[in-house]
Amino acid sequence: MAAKTTSVENRFRPNGRNWPLMYAFLIACGGSTKTTSATSLAVTNALRGYKGTIWDLDANLSTSLVCGYDEKALEGRKNVYDLVTGRATLDEIVVPARYRIGDGYEDDAFMEIPNLNLVPGSIELAQADTYIALDADAQDWFKEVLESYDGDDEIWYLDFPASYGRMVYSVARMLDENDSVVPSVRADPKDIAMLPKLLEELVRIREKNRNRRSVPGRPTVNHLLLTGTPTATYSEAAPRRAKEIAEKKYGHWLLPFVRYSADAKKIYEDTCPLPVILPNSYPAEDYRKVSTSLGYTDRT
Ligand SMILES: Nc1ncnc2c1ncn2[C@@H]1O[C@H](COP(=O)(O)OP(=O)(O)O)[C@@H](O)[C@H]1O
Ligand SMILES: [Mg+2]
Repeated sequence: MAAKTTSVENRFRPNGRNWPLMYAFLIACGGSTKTTSATSLAVTNALRGYKGTIWDLDANLSTSLVCGYDEKALEGRKNVYDLVTGRATLDEIVVPARYRIGDGYEDDAFMEIPNLNLVPGSIELAQADTYIALDADAQDWFKEVLESYDGDDEIWYLDFPASYGRMVYSVARMLDENDSVVPSVRADPKDIAMLPKLLEELVRIREKNRNRRSVPGRPTVNHLLLTGTPTATYSEAAPRRAKEIAEKKYGHWLLPFVRYSADAKKIYEDTCPLPVILPNSYPAEDYRKVSTSLGYTDRT
């Protein structure tokens, strides 16, 4: 156990903890590009040689789908809801992230993405808030997963639903200021207007956990991703205005802009991550800049 974790660089084990650095793609705003950013950054970093796991915490299964697992592929498999309800361990549910290269569901229909695992989602996650509400101990599920972790992942990417419910809280309260809550927001003034609510929610979580010693309780926005930003051919007023607002109000958090591409929706049509299916698109190029700016230069 000790041998495995000592080989991981200190930056991926803040304060010597035993679990990986975490990026939480969180903001209660539907269609704000959380899944696109989580999967694109996870795959970009994995292709650069950083070992990670992406967590599908949304009952819509978007992340699972983009990482090569549709409902049929997940049938009969244990998933994140089994973790929430204590019916499985992390080792039992992780699968390699992959994309389709042929027909059917045998392993040879897929190409695995090196260095990246997936925690598969579940439509049952829609009941997670109720489950946690009924049992006071149930919200410790994520804390227990972290405390018992003995693997060698460097980074975890958490893809959240558009809510601030109990399940989201059970995960978010385990972050500290070394981890990053990364709201991924479309370049649209309406979406940027959802940021204050997120910041209020994080204050609430920090206040609630202020005197607790067994829970970090300090989820912090360290970065902001603005996506769908203007290009030479996409220069409408709303995205331009959004960019100005973001620079003025949140400039200190801004990562490199992720430019607009009508092709971005292909990740859902073809169920394949953007850096794999469209490596030369503006957004794929920009997610590589984001990766570099976070300190993940190519190791390969
Ligand atoms: N850079 C981009 N340019 C244009 N459209 C994008 C871009 N990134 C994502 N999108 C589109 O935005 C929509 C919402 O993205 P998604 O990642 O599913 O958001 P969320 O997970 O927050 O619900 C999708 O239709 C997606 O194709
Ligand atoms: Mg999503």
